[in-house]
Amino acid sequence: MNKTAKLRELNAKWLAECTCELRKTVTQGVLGDGNADADIVFIGEAPGAKEDREGRPFIGAAGKFLAAMLADIKMKREDVYITNIVKYRPPENRDPLSDEIAACAPWLEGEIKLIEPTLIVLLGRHAMNHFFPDKKISGEHGIVSVLPLFGKIQHFLPLYHPAAALYNGSLRATLKEDFKEIPLILKNIAEENPHKRE
Ligand code: URA
Repeated sequence: MNKTAKLRELNAKWLAECTCELRKTVTQGVLGDGNADADIVFIGEAPGAKEDREGRPFIGAAGKFLAAMLADIKMKREDVYITNIVKYRPPENRDPLSDEIAACAPWLEGEIKLIEPTLIVLLGRHAMNHFFPDKKISGEHGIVSVLPLFGKIQHFLPLYHPAAALYNGSLRATLKEDFKEIPLILKNIAEENPHKRE
């Protein structure tokens, strides 16, 4: 079975089995979207209203901004994989609670283990704090961190969340600048690991 088929199976399993309390209030679960063979996995916080209605992550204003930044580095949504730490929209878009994040965590873990990305881009503080509980996004954005994860050294790039940066000129400029470094970061990781993905 190829990765796309395995991912479809994984998502069907967790859609049926996820114990997140948010299931009670949403229209539907919002699955990760994109390329199961991607080098980059983007992880956001949780779906918003549009994502809840349509069942796809990052399709509202923040998603359009993300797509524009991908275009700036000559990539498309279809080249990457985009998901959230929590797969269900919190009421009124409130922050996800720790129980909700914990309930969805094995699902996210399954996605990462299967895709084995070269780089995980953490969009905003919730995604970053899931992997780096003590770090602050203001100090870490644009800086690559590594952690042992599921038996390998995983590279992470924390960035400001596109929704937070959308209407804040200086965050927006910072996010765009950080984002433009992604191709060089990928190249550097590949050179550190010359035998990876051969
Ligand atoms: N913000 C997120 O963090 N995720 C989405 O899917 C949409 C907006």
